[in-house]
Amino acid sequence: MSQAVAEQIEIIPTGAALGAEIRGVDLRAPGDAAFAAIRRAWTDHKVLIFRGQVLEDDELIGFSRRFGGLDFAPIQENGRRFVDGHPEIYVVSNVVVNGEAIGSLGAGEAVWHTDMSYLEAPPKASLLHALEIPPDGGDTWFCDMDAVLKGLPAALRARLAGLRIKHDGTYNSGGFVRQGVTPTDDPRESPGTIHPLVCTHPESGRQTLYLGRRRNAWIEGMELAASEALLDELWSHVERPDYAYRHRWRVGDLVLWDNRCTMHRRDPFDAAARRVMHRTQVKGEARPTS
Ligand code: SIN
Repeated sequence: MSQAVAEQIEIIPTGAALGAEIRGVDLRAPGDAAFAAIRRAWTDHKVLIFRGQVLEDDELIGFSRRFGGLDFAPIQENGRRFVDGHPEIYVVSNVVVNGEAIGSLGAGEAVWHTDMSYLEAPPKASLLHALEIPPDGGDTWFCDMDAVLKGLPAALRARLAGLRIKHDGTYNSGGFVRQGVTPTDDPRESPGTIHPLVCTHPESGRQTLYLGRRRNAWIEGMELAASEALLDELWSHVERPDYAYRHRWRVGDLVLWDNRCTMHRRDPFDAAARRVMHRTQVKGEARPTS
């Protein structure tokens, strides 16, 4: 079903568990009414897809700032910022120039995660703009963590009351060690931040399961084996197709997602093909709360 709103914007739900395509807007200069409609649609649908956008880095930053202040991108694997003069831009790419990767995450799978949840106030939104895409693979999947929580068996959900989870800051979703971190696979010792396992979304008021990522996660205060068993049980509910939306990229796509109530993962692709994406991340206003 399509809904016509201000400035000829159309909001077309994907038909999957989450996500909507927004048509009829140029993200270089959305008017106030159009932006207000986009803002509402983002809360309602959690993932928004805009096709056919042509955004320079400063235009991507400009649109992203309409949602709030921006976090600087994580430092790349070689210790440097990605884009001179634009510390907000995170380059996701497998392209290597003069022996040096121009971005992060390579061409392998990027496992399920939500962005930068190892921070005390993780970014509320991420915006990913496709500049070059491979002919096959590299699709990005999103899952609705409100739906995952809602779908848990009652007895399992009851066990989550009051629990808090450690979000690891050692590895990125491509499995690479973050800059300046000494790797450890003991989640009790690894750097990271503890957040409630069940959080309340500050805008929608909905409850959501805040898992972050699987590797090096730990349920605070639990024996490691018990924590691993509970986490494995919870993660077994994440990959259900009825909670997911699969995004097949085209050049010019901009996808905006809510990090507070979704996770995403990326399919691997041919390392000989080029994939170049530029991402921004909008600061969270506060720590996640239960
Ligand atoms: C990301 O995790 O932000 C990147 C996802 C992708 O490469 O599609």
